[in-house]
Amino acid sequence: MATLVGASVLVLASGAAPAAAEGVGPAPVDGATGGGDPYFPAAGNGGYDVAHYDLDLSYTPQTRALTAHATIEARALQGLRSFSLDLRDLDVSAVRVDGAAAGFTHRGGELVVTPVAPLRKRARFVVDVDYGGTTGQPADPTGALYGWISFPDGAFTGNEPDGASTWYPVNDIPSDKAGYTFTVDVPDGTVAVGNGKLTDQKSAGGRTTYRWQADDPQASYLAMAATGNYVLTTDRGPHGLPIINAVDADVDRAAAQAVLAKQPAMIAFYEDRFGRYPFGSFGAVVDDNDEPGYALENQTRPIYAGVPDESTVAHELAHQWFGDKVTPRLWKDIWLNEGFATYAEWLWGESTGGPSPQQQFDQAYATPAGDELWSVLPGDPGPADMFATAVYQRGAMTLQVLRTTIGDDAFAKVLRQWAGRDRDRPVGTDDFRALAEQVSGKDLDALFRTWLYTPGKPAAPAPA
Ligand code: ARG
Ligand code: ZN
Repeated sequence: MATLVGASVLVLASGAAPAAAEGVGPAPVDGATGGGDPYFPAAGNGGYDVAHYDLDLSYTPQTRALTAHATIEARALQGLRSFSLDLRDLDVSAVRVDGAAAGFTHRGGELVVTPVAPLRKRARFVVDVDYGGTTGQPADPTGALYGWISFPDGAFTGNEPDGASTWYPVNDIPSDKAGYTFTVDVPDGTVAVGNGKLTDQKSAGGRTTYRWQADDPQASYLAMAATGNYVLTTDRGPHGLPIINAVDADVDRAAAQAVLAKQPAMIAFYEDRFGRYPFGSFGAVVDDNDEPGYALENQTRPIYAGVPDESTVAHELAHQWFGDKVTPRLWKDIWLNEGFATYAEWLWGESTGGPSPQQQFDQAYATPAGDELWSVLPGDPGPADMFATAVYQRGAMTLQVLRTTIGDDAFAKVLRQWAGRDRDRPVGTDDFRALAEQVSGKDLDALFRTWLYTPGKPAAPAPA
């Protein structure tokens, strides 16, 4: 798609396109409608980079009616005659670019916007989208509910991997991180939560508006808004880190509180191993509706469908370093999220008197050769198996084999340096292998090939 567009532009440009003649570079193009991830070719777009999403959402749980306005600040990476945003199911009533009404088409989940005049390369621009409708029941490639997940008493979001477009217009690829502001208006008595910090709350005419500000740039799959019968409480983590928890009034709140109370100690434990907690706040949303059947590591504010157990909270917290801060560019590298968060669970478990990572490894290794654990490839599982046990378990086992191969000290150094990477540069498995090889001085090609990319149960690794 992108190649085709590029090729036709070359023809145009060589035909003395006016922009080129004026010396402002190549003629503007139609930005790509895909983001280049082979797992989700329609997700994401080309030609621009988003800096900030300001999402104004008015939601009524009883009718699932959403009336919304998005203000998106972006920068053109090429001259653009048109550009695309991902938005599914909902209807768009107006689009403006830099305050002027823009042309648009909306089909197949692509909102293609044509500003009155082309955008120059490197220009900053602001897109306003008025949209809304009745939210649906979107399902991910595995059949699980995701995106905007609604219930009679509220809704919460679980965007991973490509569900953000079920509730806002977005450049839905993990590598285009942006700041977010959420202004969510709900009936009095319902509480709204977003990523980051609560900065304002006011009531008028039977409705309450909550404003949440997420300044740490985040991937779209980690953006979240939740509305429900929540009770907000505030706690403190290391260095005064604000921890804001939202617990559904309809769950066993004492049980929820008991597990959430461990978050400060978990943060301190991981800070010792992975370096400073990477964001300005943390906390959990615990919803009473467990239908989605999974938790999600939304940046600064994981969501739990039902009261979580301790290892799940340890898992979602670890993702703040592994996944949220250090983010894979492509979904095939999902083990860099799930294998690492699972390994971190093992570390936390050991520190509280549970089995050691080696014991966890041994137990998983006992899984019979015919099991799916050995047929799904953690390093390239395919979109339908992104969240298969192999990605989590065999991913974490890969790290344990790495540890026994390079030794405890080198392994600890690798984890710390990996977690300390620049949050703005998306990563791949090759980056991780290069780091592990550099720290250990060993050739690790065979190890990663066997454990991540080769079907079948690997031969037992040499004992440590
Ligand atoms: N990343 C989540 C976790 O490991 C799982 C997300 C599953 N998402 C899904 N759409 N099935 O905690
Ligand atoms: Zn996970």
